[in-house]
Amino acid sequence: MERLTVELGARSYDIVIGDGLLDAVGAQVAPRLKRPRTMIVTDAHVADLYLARVSASLAAEGVAASSLVLPAGEGTKSWEGLARLTEWLIGEGIERSDHVIALGGGVIGDLVGFACSIVKRGCAFVQVPTTLLAQVDSSVGGKTAINVAAGKNLIGAFHQPALVLIDPTTLATLPARELGAGYAEVVKYGLIDDADFFAWCEANGAALLAGDGAARHKAIAHSVSAKARIVAADERETQDVRALLNLGHSFGHALEAETGYSDRLLHGEAVAAGMVLAHQFSAAKGLCPAADAARVRDHLAGLGLPHSLASAGINSGGAALAAHMAHDKKVRGGKLPLILTHGIGRSFVTDDYGLDTVAAFLDGA
Ligand code: NAD
Ligand code: GLY
Repeated sequence: MERLTVELGARSYDIVIGDGLLDAVGAQVAPRLKRPRTMIVTDAHVADLYLARVSASLAAEGVAASSLVLPAGEGTKSWEGLARLTEWLIGEGIERSDHVIALGGGVIGDLVGFACSIVKRGCAFVQVPTTLLAQVDSSVGGKTAINVAAGKNLIGAFHQPALVLIDPTTLATLPARELGAGYAEVVKYGLIDDADFFAWCEANGAALLAGDGAARHKAIAHSVSAKARIVAADERETQDVRALLNLGHSFGHALEAETGYSDRLLHGEAVAAGMVLAHQFSAAKGLCPAADAARVRDHLAGLGLPHSLASAGINSGGAALAAHMAHDKKVRGGKLPLILTHGIGRSFVTDDYGLDTVAAFLDGA
């Protein structure tokens, strides 16, 4: 079992990583409660697999737990999902000191976090992430949101969890495609500022995806440790530090929008292609060695992840893709800050390039 802390003063919290930790959720949570009562929120896939174990672990500590099972999928991160969840929490008689347990992937974590930021003006919640993406990224850092017609994650709040409990063995049931999408976020930490970790990914990525438990544990621990450091330095993304976590996301966002945020391209798959494009754009502008861009492409391509517009199923022109980027919520003063790079592990934020330049690059990509 490994324990890390996200250092945020009064809002600091621990991240615990351990095989079989699902059976210890009760033991981890019970000491924090003011009354022996909690509410578990999950989705239908995860409920079938893991809800009984988590409920039993709470019961073993004398904690009563009611549960709400929501439909699986991005559609649950919606006004309707939020209304259903918040009304349920109120109906369950939630008190502000109760800890709601978010058991599932990023959809459940983002929705529960947002609900807990507004119910009774703020209640505590515990993240129990069960996808690789959620274990290495979305469960840590307190970004919570729902999607609306105008775009993804446009309504939300910063609301930090009280605790994050990661059981890597839950990945055994995760579909291979979801695992690959989460792996892109692992690689991201190497590309941001840790060339040694990228080299580790090159050496161990295939084993991780094939089920190697030690590789999974190391990747998760390394990734959340990096995320904890970045969040502690720039919790609200005001200093161009946390923004680095968006490496590949601006290009990826355009690809996701172009594919209608559908199963045609999962978020992590769009990030994989987006990270390659960010490196290739940087190389085209003379900022980054072309060999580094090729290394990133080769690693992701070798693992079957999207690594180009074509492999992401995109055949639209650059102008159409850049138009999606103009709607990015990170636009400031009419300019979209891009995360570019001077090479592997040397990314930086810039608004030196206009979307017309990006569109011209994408036409040739
Ligand atoms: P998800 O929550 O939809 O999970 C993907 C699928 O896997 C779902 O069908 C789910 O039911 C299933 N699943 C979950 N755990 C499983 C398991 N152990 N075994 C079998 N099936 C399992 O998707 P996700 O990729 O985890 O998260 C995507 C969401 O995360 C998006 O909404 C994105 O915006 C958000 N996100 C948030 C942040 C943040 O910082 N808050 C960061 C990145 C992404
Ligand atoms: N996933 C990006 C962030 O947490 O800032």
